[in-house]
Amino acid sequence: NIVYLNGEFLPADEAKVSVFDRGFLFGDSVYEVIPFYQGVGFRLQAHLERLNHSLRAVRIKNEGNWNEILDTLVWKNGGGNLSVYLQVTRGNAGKRSHAYDDSLEPTVFACCTPIKDVWGEGAESVVPLKAIVTEDLRWHRCDIKSTCLLPNILVLQQAKDEGVQEALFSRNDKLTEGSACNLFLVKRGVLYTPKRSSEILGGITRELVLELADKHAIQFQEVDIDYEQLLSADEVWVSSSTRGVVPVVEVDGQVIGDGHPGPIWQKMFEFFAA
Ligand code: PDD
Repeated sequence: NIVYLNGEFLPADEAKVSVFDRGFLFGDSVYEVIPFYQGVGFRLQAHLERLNHSLRAVRIKNEGNWNEILDTLVWKNGGGNLSVYLQVTRGNAGKRSHAYDDSLEPTVFACCTPIKDVWGEGAESVVPLKAIVTEDLRWHRCDIKSTCLLPNILVLQQAKDEGVQEALFSRNDKLTEGSACNLFLVKRGVLYTPKRSSEILGGITRELVLELADKHAIQFQEVDIDYEQLLSADEVWVSSSTRGVVPVVEVDGQVIGDGHPGPIWQKMFEFFAA
């Protein structure tokens, strides 16, 4: 398992970061998760543009040659199907102090883990999810892919404690997204998803779902979704780079539609796989 750290490719257990790194002390850092299939990045440029957006938004210096770093990392790990994690922290300040100095050198870390090709294995192999809805306690810049993920981690654990696999965030009775995924619902053949704003992460997979809907003449709307609309939907899905589009068949103990993955989801899965 070879990782990348600050200009070097080295075995994971030899990669060391300072205890004074601001990523460690403050979560002062941003990240991306990018799937590579057969060694090729999935919507790589869109991921890198989002990374640039996150870096700019939190004013961390952006000097990485990301394409080259990731290609080399994937190659050194044997290519194939890999999920690549890339994290950039504001750097090691040598002390703990909230205020930072603009001259800090960012810490850049990347690693990868094997994944299965979610599209290659067929819709039958997709396991539908059950979810709970929880209050969205995050800040108001969810468009930044920050590593400050405590709210996301805690709600996912709450879901697990309640015997389900996903947690959906709701803010002021508007569903925003899942703990690490975007949200879709289908009602009478129309696809709905919360509109892009600073309250959600602009998912790369979300964008692709909308492109495919457009291409295949599935009507869609980017709108506010409330709890009632969620529960009375014919279909609910979540989307992310690592999982693709996955049906949600139960929310807060209530069955969605007929309790099985729906026909529009099935179509969307096939469009993705094509
Ligand atoms: N998370 N919303 C949130 C809060 C996310 O963390 C993610 C992805 C998404 C989906 O975005 P995309 O389609 O670009 O993966 C939406 C990654 C996978 C993670 O944190 O591991």
